[in-house]
Amino acid sequence: MSSPIWHPFTQHALLPNATLVTQGKGAWLETEKGRLLDAISSWWVITHGHRHPRIIEAIQKQADVLDQVIFAGFTHPPAEDLARGLIDIAPKGLTRVFYSDSGSTAVEVALKMALGFWKNQGKDRTRIIALEHAYHGDTIGTMSAGARGVYNAAYTPLLYDVVRLPFPAPGREQETLDHLKQAAPGAAALIAEPLILGAGGMLVYSADVLHDMARICRESGTLMIADEAMTGFGRTGTLFACEQAGVSPDILCLAKGLTGGSIPLAVTLCREEIFAGHYSTDRSRTFFHSSSFTANPIACAAARANLEIWRDEPVRERIAALARLQEEPLARFRDDARFENVRRLGTITAMDLKVPDAGYLANVAPELMKFFQARGILLRPLGNSIYVLPPYCVTAGELDLVYDAIAEAAGKFA
Ligand SMILES: Cc1ncc(COP(=O)(O)O)c(C=O)c1O
Repeated sequence: MSSPIWHPFTQHALLPNATLVTQGKGAWLETEKGRLLDAISSWWVITHGHRHPRIIEAIQKQADVLDQVIFAGFTHPPAEDLARGLIDIAPKGLTRVFYSDSGSTAVEVALKMALGFWKNQGKDRTRIIALEHAYHGDTIGTMSAGARGVYNAAYTPLLYDVVRLPFPAPGREQETLDHLKQAAPGAAALIAEPLILGAGGMLVYSADVLHDMARICRESGTLMIADEAMTGFGRTGTLFACEQAGVSPDILCLAKGLTGGSIPLAVTLCREEIFAGHYSTDRSRTFFHSSSFTANPIACAAARANLEIWRDEPVRERIAALARLQEEPLARFRDDARFENVRRLGTITAMDLKVPDAGYLANVAPELMKFFQARGILLRPLGNSIYVLPPYCVTAGELDLVYDAIAEAAGKFA
């Protein structure tokens, strides 16, 4: 019998059967068709590897004690410990933690915090500034801040307008900064993925630009929202990407790797002024946001275990070693005329395969994915951009399998 499930970002007429996955361990998934090397960390979430023993143990222990509780007016130890732990490691000045469940909700919360902050001060600052090619999620609010394209064309009537800054590609940085200088005065907030735009095609920009964007925001009193849903927890080589630019955003969104990727949880951290802007005996100034599973205790326990792993294990060294391992195989692609824009940021690499039709709806991405899967590798290119974003436990030998398959793919597709 065919499955009743409607899968995300899947055209069922072209991909009728999802691959059945039965187990995950380290960098590998067991499927009905054999083993798959998870070279995209299961949509950028798995950090240390599938089923890290300390995270699994924390989940099991917490499930035995408290599974779920309303979070309005109630709290619990995993949420309290985690919030304090996050403040200790987050960029300076972030003192409040709001829980939610996904990257999209973390960004929705951030945008609502920014607008609530200005409204509660009687200021008419509602404009949001965002980057060209940005991706912040798939809810109506986050799609509005993200790039427009075929994937959200049907919902355009519901999307709000934002000021769009040109992407600060190398050589075009000043253009971005000039646009921001014009747009920032009177705006509510700038939202940006720091250093690398993920779903936009793994597009890398410099820490200097990020630093300058933060400065311009500060000078015009515009809030800066860093969306580290993807970049957080080590992907770019530092715990948070903002660190590389010496930036402390006003609002920080974390999701995906927060629980080591084991279970859904997200947080939005903010400066004290933003919390204070909602603090009042007047109920109308409340921050009006919640979801049923806000700060689920099992998810918080998993995230608390993740922070302990970062504290106790040599995760930073592992990431530095992985960054070096990822750099080595790139040399051969830099010299290969069938590829362009070969790039790396921290543990992430990406390269664009020169194909006749590279558009988002072109067949190349799903065909490449099928090609890699037949070779036991999970890669999910974005159009013609092939990226490798592995869990930190991946070995040199495993990466060789990935890059050999990419080289082989060039022979067939380019
Ligand atoms: C930068 C960024 N923000 C937000 C999101 C949305 O996160 P989620 O899929 O958990 O809603 C993503 C997802 O890829 C992302 O990369």
